[in-house]
Amino acid sequence: MNYNKKSIEDIEVAGKRVLCRCDFNVPTKDGKITSDKRIVAAMPTIEYLVNKGAKVILCSHMGKPKGEWKPELSLQVVAKRISELLGKEVVMATDVAGEDSKAKAAALRDGDVMLLENTRYIKGETKNDPELSKALADLADIFVNDAFGTAHRAHSSTAGVADYLPAVSGYLVQKEVSIMGKALANPERPFVAILGGAKVSDKLNVINNLLEKVDTLIIGGGMAYTFLAAQGYSVGKSLVDNEKLDYCKEMLAKAEAKGVKLLLPADTAIAPAFPDPIDGEISVDYVDCTAIPADQMGLDIGPKACAAFAAAAKAAKTVVWNGPMGVFENPTLAKGTIAVAQALADSDAVTIVGGGDSAAACEQLGFANAITHISTGGGASLEFLEGLELPGIACLQDK
Ligand code: 3PG
Repeated sequence: MNYNKKSIEDIEVAGKRVLCRCDFNVPTKDGKITSDKRIVAAMPTIEYLVNKGAKVILCSHMGKPKGEWKPELSLQVVAKRISELLGKEVVMATDVAGEDSKAKAAALRDGDVMLLENTRYIKGETKNDPELSKALADLADIFVNDAFGTAHRAHSSTAGVADYLPAVSGYLVQKEVSIMGKALANPERPFVAILGGAKVSDKLNVINNLLEKVDTLIIGGGMAYTFLAAQGYSVGKSLVDNEKLDYCKEMLAKAEAKGVKLLLPADTAIAPAFPDPIDGEISVDYVDCTAIPADQMGLDIGPKACAAFAAAAKAAKTVVWNGPMGVFENPTLAKGTIAVAQALADSDAVTIVGGGDSAAACEQLGFANAITHISTGGGASLEFLEGLELPGIACLQDK
């Protein structure tokens, strides 16, 4: 995929109506935003457009309303936050590309900002319906995509609209693509990838693609037990994806053939059952992964694994991390994930955290500033690591 795309600096935006797709899909609780990271990450582009005198029409989805007008998924709360960060009014449209949006877009003066309602209030959005793409395009002269977190979706507001307008990237998309693109295409070595998460099946292509690129691949989290089982160990009641045992054997063989060091946890936290509730009290023992009793399940990596993974991160020049090492929602089972986050924060390497749960862990632990780049994309960063073409980036004009 070609990542050399035109950006907002390569096009004249002064006095133009600019439709800017952002990923404002932020978590909320009781009508309040609980993390404004994605809004803050979009501000450099919004500020640039405002300062250049563009008429800025922002849009995004929130949640999955599936064409229904769900008031709890309204972007009004986002408009308020942007307005606070920008220090100026953000006009809120009451529809997506309907009469209210048209009237408000037409009334914008240079440097004004408006926000459309949740694009997924319209059924056509997720179907990449040309009618909606065209209606969105009719509001503006230029399309800017700055929604890295949604770049893996071929939807009307992320890709379809680019069929009707000159389309360029914003600063966030540019930053995500250049940092992660460089790490994958031309990494400083040793290059270490740390993968976690519950299921092997979620990471099949990521493992396969990373084995082409890294010097060391570390596998922790729930999926490590399928790899251990593929190596012939008994893993007790641990989560094992039986259908993926052959796949794991293939990946172990591929790593060996390519001279890639594939590190699995040496030890694990065990308990007789999954914690219920997930954050409820649990007492665990630590055993070697070669000695997991039949009536126990592995729920986090153990101290030996933490030390080995941290040493690999310390010796690296580039580290990419995606996915927790255990059931990190539970404080007793978060130790492995915390150890990896700490190891990245302590490392002098270029450290990249690929979004989702691992990004949340780094932020909650207060390590965010010590990491080179925390992606705003969950699914998008995973597809990026898989080497897939992201439709929201592919649709932009080449440089
Ligand atoms: C995300 O949160 O990963 C993005 O906003 C995409 O959301 P989606 O998975 O609902 O498409």
